[in-house]
Amino acid sequence: MPYRQLPQIQDLHRRFLDRLQHAQDDKEPRGLYEPIEYILSIGGKRVRPLLALIAARMFGDGEGLRAGMPVAMAVEVFHNFTLLHDDIMDESPLRRGQPTVHRKWDTNTAILSGDLMLIQAYGHLAESADPSRIPVLLNTFNRVATGVCEGQQFDVDFERKHHVTIEEYLRMIELKTAVLLGGALEMGALAAGAGQEDADHLYAFGRLTGLAFQLHDDLLDTFGEGAETGKLTGNDIIRNKKTFLYIKTLEALDAGEREELVHWFSHTPEDPAPKVARVTEMMRLRGIPELVAELRDDFQRDAYDHLEAVTGDSGWKAVLRAVAEGLLQRAS
Ligand code: IPE
Ligand code: IPE
Ligand code: MG
Ligand code: MG
Ligand code: MG
Repeated sequence: MPYRQLPQIQDLHRRFLDRLQHAQDDKEPRGLYEPIEYILSIGGKRVRPLLALIAARMFGDGEGLRAGMPVAMAVEVFHNFTLLHDDIMDESPLRRGQPTVHRKWDTNTAILSGDLMLIQAYGHLAESADPSRIPVLLNTFNRVATGVCEGQQFDVDFERKHHVTIEEYLRMIELKTAVLLGGALEMGALAAGAGQEDADHLYAFGRLTGLAFQLHDDLLDTFGEGAETGKLTGNDIIRNKKTFLYIKTLEALDAGEREELVHWFSHTPEDPAPKVARVTEMMRLRGIPELVAELRDDFQRDAYDHLEAVTGDSGWKAVLRAVAEGLLQRAS
């Protein structure tokens, strides 16, 4: 059964949306709060808050939901803050099938509303049910949020760097994406009173799932359907992103074609269509999407070993596994 249809997930999802709605109501000036309301209301998979809530339920039983909700809010608001700024940095026109905030309003709006969302994320953490756990949650949150910024900078640096190794790429996606999935689980568990060893295994499960998740995101960027991803297909190619797809294609090409690919990735043509078509073709002909899918699945298999080691409730562990599986089959 797809994870979204699991009754446990539907219940957590509904409760999370109840909490998320109306958070910006009646606040002034509307020019600051409306974009926040907008980005939080146009959808998204809500995977980070779900991970936080599942981890909290796993260790906190009936109290788990109350303990996990501030973490769930913090990670989702933080994630959406990163998207506002990421879409400026990637010059992305679309997000979740709608215009990005900097396109619907302007760049200054996306910067300032994003800044406030970062502040709001801390505000949610400060509302934790057990105040004695706030310092440890803050520490984890700061570690993770710092990682995300570091990863974003590597991602941007790599746009202009011609030679990026697989190791550099993996470190970049670990920081920009994987640490937040791991952190959501770790913080959800800690908020509900889990021991550090379980929280560490959950973090490791989330980190490896996050690496798989970002590899899948890269696949969707080039090979997905815009109507389903809600993003502009080919944007990574347009922006000269040094993804695993690109690095592996470069490795697989002969000298002449390698020169051609490097040339395409050293400029941003006015009309991107021929570049996107040709680079996508080169990737497809060399079987690169299949290679990426293999590495993605390897990471996910390693992730399950850590999930096995967690001492929490086996029913919730099965739910986590279903979520991870669903994320790797997703079309959006
Ligand atoms: C997009 O994250 C940014 C990445 C880290 C790949 P999601 O794919 O979780 O985006 P939403 O929240 O579901 O729209
Ligand atoms: C986004 O990575 C990571 C963060 C927002 C920190 P991407 O740039 O690949 O995400 P999408 O594809 O725009 O959602
Ligand atoms: Mg980006
Ligand atoms: Mg982006
Ligand atoms: Mg992407």
